[in-house]
Order: sequence, then C-alpha cells, then structure tokens
Amino acid sequence: MNNFTVSVDADGIATFLFDVPGRTMNTFTDSAVADIDAIVAKIRDDDSIKGAILASGKANGFCAGADLGELGETAGGQASGAAREAALPATSRMTWALRALETVGKPVVAAIEGVALGGGFEFALAAHYRVASTKARVGLPEVTIGLLPGAGGTQRVPRLAGVQAALDLMLTGAPVDAEKAKAIGIIDEVVEPGQALAAAKAWILAGGEGVQPWDRKGYVMKDGPYSEAGSPVFMMVPPRIMSKTYGNYPAQKNIARCVYEGFNLPMDAALRVEARLFLDTQQSPQARAMIRSLFLSKQALAKGGARPAGVPTYAVKKAAVLGAGMMGAGIAYAQARVGIDTVLIDVAQAGADKGKAYSEGLVAKAVAKGAMSQQAADDLVGRITATTDYDAIKGADLVVEAVFEDRALKADVTKRAEAQIGPDAVFASNTSTLPITGLSEAAERPANFIGIHFFSPVDRMELVEIIVGKATSQETLAKALDYCKQLKKVPIVVNDSRGFFTSRVFDTYIREGLEMLIEGIAPAIIDNVGRMTGMPRGPLELLDDVAIDLVDRVAGQRRIDLNLPAPVAGDTDKFLIDMIGQERWGRKNGKGVYDYPQGEPKRLWAGLAEMHPVKISQSSPELIEHLKQRLLYRQAVEAARCMDENVVTAARDADVGAILGWGFAPWTGGPISLIDSTGVAEFTAACEALAAQYGERFAPPALLKTMAEKGERFYPAPKPLAA
Ligand code: NAI
Repeated sequence: MNNFTVSVDADGIATFLFDVPGRTMNTFTDSAVADIDAIVAKIRDDDSIKGAILASGKANGFCAGADLGELGETAGGQASGAAREAALPATSRMTWALRALETVGKPVVAAIEGVALGGGFEFALAAHYRVASTKARVGLPEVTIGLLPGAGGTQRVPRLAGVQAALDLMLTGAPVDAEKAKAIGIIDEVVEPGQALAAAKAWILAGGEGVQPWDRKGYVMKDGPYSEAGSPVFMMVPPRIMSKTYGNYPAQKNIARCVYEGFNLPMDAALRVEARLFLDTQQSPQARAMIRSLFLSKQALAKGGARPAGVPTYAVKKAAVLGAGMMGAGIAYAQARVGIDTVLIDVAQAGADKGKAYSEGLVAKAVAKGAMSQQAADDLVGRITATTDYDAIKGADLVVEAVFEDRALKADVTKRAEAQIGPDAVFASNTSTLPITGLSEAAERPANFIGIHFFSPVDRMELVEIIVGKATSQETLAKALDYCKQLKKVPIVVNDSRGFFTSRVFDTYIREGLEMLIEGIAPAIIDNVGRMTGMPRGPLELLDDVAIDLVDRVAGQRRIDLNLPAPVAGDTDKFLIDMIGQERWGRKNGKGVYDYPQGEPKRLWAGLAEMHPVKISQSSPELIEHLKQRLLYRQAVEAARCMDENVVTAARDADVGAILGWGFAPWTGGPISLIDSTGVAEFTAACEALAAQYGERFAPPALLKTMAEKGERFYPAPKPLAA
C-alpha cells in the first residue's frame, strides 16, 4: 500500500489512514485505487482483525475525489461498442474494489473529518457505517464537471436516501453538511470535530454488523420508481433535466438512467449498469471539455497560471482602493476578507463610509447565517479605513483605481496616489473599457501600471481579467497575479486591446441577437435559443440587464476612436441609438427590449415591432439549430481572433474567462474548446459558410485557417482508453 498506513489495536480494530504522499489533499489516483484491493485482502486474511476503520491521515479532509488529472487524459475519446467493453474492467476497477470491501464479511466504518467528495465519498459509502464530524461536508459533485458518480454512488445513495434526495444530491452536485447528510440517511452519526475515529471504533465494539442493507435477504428499495413516493419523482425527472440543460449535458441524463435502470437490480448488476453509463459519460466531449476548463485549467490559473518566473512572491499587506462606488466597495471587501489592510477612498467622507457599509452589510448577513463569527466580522470590517485623505495610502503595496470611467479623472487620481506609494508598489486600474497603455501614460512609473478588471458583484465573481499594457513590466504582472491568488480569485491574463477579452467577446453575443432581431426573427425565439445554447440568459434579456445606454456609450466611443462612419439603418449600433432616443435604457429604468412593470413578469415592448417588424415567428428544429450555431460560433470566432491577435495568449485563459466571466455555455468548455471539439477544420468551414451568408463578422482569422490546413488543434487529443 502506497497511500494508506495501517495499524491494528489490541481490540482487533484495524485503522487505515488515507495519506497520499506528497499531496495536501487525498485523491483517488490509480495507485490509491489499487490500494483498496490490499485493504480488502488485509481485512479478510488477517484473523486478528475484527473490524476496520477508514479515515484520513491529512489535516484538511478525508478525500476530494478521483484524480482528475488522470481521468481527464482519456475523457472525451468517444469510445463505444467493442472499445468500450474492452476498457470496462480498467475503468470500473474502483467499483469492484469497493464492492469487495463491502462484502468482506467484517464491519467497516468510515470516519469522516472535513470533506469527502466524489470518489472520496463513494469510498465511504462502501463502508457499513459512516461517522462524520460536524465540520464534515459530503457530496457527489461529478455532474459539475460533466461526469457521474462512477464508483457505486448512483446505486448506494438512492438505496440509502431514497430517489428524490439522491437525485437532488447528484443532479446539483452541491455538497451538504453533516447534519443534512444524516437527515437524508447518507451519514449515520454526527460527532464533534476530532471524535470521528473514536465513534467509529465504538460502533464496531458495540457489535456493528458488516452487511449492507441491500445485501440482506428480502431487501426492497424505498421510493423506487414504481412506488407511491418514487413514481411522481421519476415522472418529473426528464422535464426537470431538460428545462435546465436543454439536452446539452449527457451526465444529467445518465445519472437519471443509472438510478432508473439500477434500482430494481441486485447490487452487482446495478453496478454494471453504472459502470457502462459512467464510461459513456466520461467518453463524451462535454466531460473532456468540462474537466479541463472547469477544473484543471481553472485550478492552474488560480495558482498563478503562467506567472513570470524569477520574481519573489509578492504579499500585499496594505492596499488602497480609489473610488468607493459599486466596484470599489466590492474590491475593498474582497481584500479585507483575506486579511489585507484596506484604505478606501472617495471624494466625500459620506461616499467612503457608504463603500465601507457595503462590507458591514455582507458580514452582518454572514453572521446571521452562522457562516461567520462576530469576531471575524469585526476584524474584517476593522481592516477597512474609509477616508478622503490620500495621505492614508502611504505604505500601500498596491492601489486599485475604481473611480468613474473618465480618462482625465483617472489620470488625476493616478498621479495623486503614485505620489504616496513606494517605487515597487503596483498601481492597477479597474477600468472596463479604457485601454491600459493609454491610462498608464499618466503614471510616473508606467512599468508598475496594470489593469486588474474585477467583475460585479466582486464578492461572488471568481474571475479577474488582468490586462498587460505595452509598458507593464513582467514583475508587475507577477505581483498582480500574486495579489489575485491572495484574494482567492481566478485570474486570466490578456494583452491590452479594445474591450480586452471578456467585454469584446461577450459583446458579440448581444450583437448577434440584435442582428437576428433586425432580420425580423421573433424576440422570443432569439432569447429562447440563447438559453438553449447553454448561455444563462438570452442576448436581448442580457442587453437589458447590462443597460442599453452603457453598450451605446462604449460603441460611440469606439466610433470616435476608430474614426468610423455614423451608423445607418440596419446596423446594431443604430438600433442602440434609436432605443436611447426613446429613453429605453434597459432594466434599470424598466424600459428596454422588454417592459418591466412593477410586480409583474417582464413582457416584450410593443414598440419594438414597429422598429423591426417580425417576419419569422415560427421556429423549426432546423431554424433553432442554425440560430444556436450563429450565437455560439460568433462568440467562438471572436475568441479565436483574440488569440490570432495575441490579445489572449493561451486557450485556457480564453475558455476559463468566457465561462466564469459571462457564463459561456459550460458544456462546451469555453469558446476555444468548442472549436476543438467541433474540429478546427469543420469549424473554420462552417464560419466561412456563415460569412458568405451574413458577412465578415463570421470570417475565420488566419490562425484558424492555418491550423485547419495543418490539422492542428488547441488542446491535446484524448488518449485512448487502456484495455
Ligand atoms: P461608481 O460610479 O459606482 O463609483 C465610482 C466612485 O468613484 C464614486 O463613488 C465616486 O464618488 C468615486 N470618485 C470619483 N472621483 C474620485 C476621486 N477623485 N477620488 C476618489 N474617488 C472618486 O462606478 P463603478 O461601477 O464602481 O465603476 C468604477 C470603475 O470600475 C469604472 O472604471 C468602471 O468602468 C469599472 N468597472 C465597472 C464594472 C461594473 O460592473 N460597474 C465592472 C468592472 C469595472
């Protein structure tokens, strides 16, 4: 055994401590899975052993799940038929190891402190009894990366918790705390932190039996699909899944199939059903894309991604935020939350205080929910100094500027702040539209000037877009990445350009929706199709949310900067201007593409049809597919242009930025992943066809054409499954 240590005490109780060498958190690597066989052999063959405890040797939890590095390599290979059958023994190895564990003939208990997730929780589910500390969190989050629990979870959880609770757990992927887990029957006993091992032992000594309920004679699963309680649950499953996923995610459907097809079978047969469906799911392009972007790439970026080497780690102890408005207040909170002393500055004391009050409000809510102690809340708020005095910035390691979007004002506060800080301190602008290189011209030390673009609301949005200007030094970039890591954000790095990466590509989604509107496609079709692609909202709804006047202002500035002609009828810019002419600013004044009558659901604005009469009000499967393709490909081709122009230098920054930044359809793994799984050549050809029909906006950049010719891809191809 390489990943477990075993000790047997005087009472004949063997304790197996899970402790993967060289890692802070346990995961089930192939090597750890192989160890389960050795655990079973030891329990079975050592006559001095009366019962066994499975626990963790790590301080920070039981086990985080399968090793996704390994699982991700072969994901998405689309093996089926004979290849799938040949691979089954290897891919279902953990399933059968755990089946041997639960039928070993002696009592086995899992003692859970901290997190037990995914494969880690499935390991615990194979025990005959589960003790968890009050601080434990358990769950099956596989669905969030396009997988299903493939080591017995889809069979054991419904048998323990019933169908409804099992589907809730597996279809949302959200972990639950120990009390909730006990309430639904997947944990047997909850104890104080540090007491799980003792309680596990006590259960064995009290005569706990080593037989699973489903292996007892006459076992009938409660709430099966044909029972009174289970049948309505099952009837609702397909519509429930479809209304949320529009068929984009095979994992959800296959989880439901596992439960439905497995519930009535003996455990061995049920596990075979799960093993096949797991492999089908793991071999889907969605699983590959989601494991990569939502886990591996995201984690790599959170650790600093391609941080320039040779710069010592920069620890920000004191930081200033200029402008205590919506963004500044959020940034101040994000800093104080991780222990950074924060100076929050505004022109009037009342404004600065209001910014600080935002943090006070957030911590008050957290205390009320029991998620934060009063002391921690007081400490957090105590770290924020709200003032109008720029002298208070002295000694700051970093300054974030978040004043109004105005070049002259930004230049002024840059100078004032720079006068107070040391020569090594970083000055960052949170501008959402102004090019960083231009802003840095106001700075005394442009090499220390960088864009750190946060997203709203700052406390909830994980993404940060770092913008490197022409003058920005590599050292400043490294420091900015360290700061993001301190804030526990996920940074992507882009080179300076109009709209940077996120705003530029996101804009194309709204624009394509407007093109459709101008063509006369019914708005309801446009917004529905938007959601069907997997985007969180339709493009027209989003335009209202973002605010039409804001999009119009950015477009107007672009025309001035690039010396573009005035827009004419049929242009999307003209549509925006016409809307503003009628004071239709979007959701913020209750008047946009939709009307927002108080207390009633939104409804389409009647005047819209006068501007652009509806010509197509009937949808068909062909039309829907075509419109879906337009909405997704328009964004993907723009993302590819960003790579072509070196605005984004790595596919993973584009993909993670798109999903975390504006909710780009997660099942695709992001716009660049979408191009890869479509096939670069196929995607490029499709864009050329769209360009012939709709114009240059779909024209593929040189990068794609070259890659298509050479047969290249952005990410490595899946490795074939080992037989
Ligand atoms: P806001 O209007 O809510 O806040 C701006 C604040 O700056 C106001 O409180 C104002 O009193 C203060 N201010 C003005 N002059 C100042 C000075 N000389 N010294 C100190 N404070 C001064 O604006 P918001 O939305 O917070 O935006 C701030 C910046 O962040 C802008 O550059 C914006 O483009 C950018 N941004 C905005 C996002 C959003 O979703 N609203 C997202 C990402 C970036």
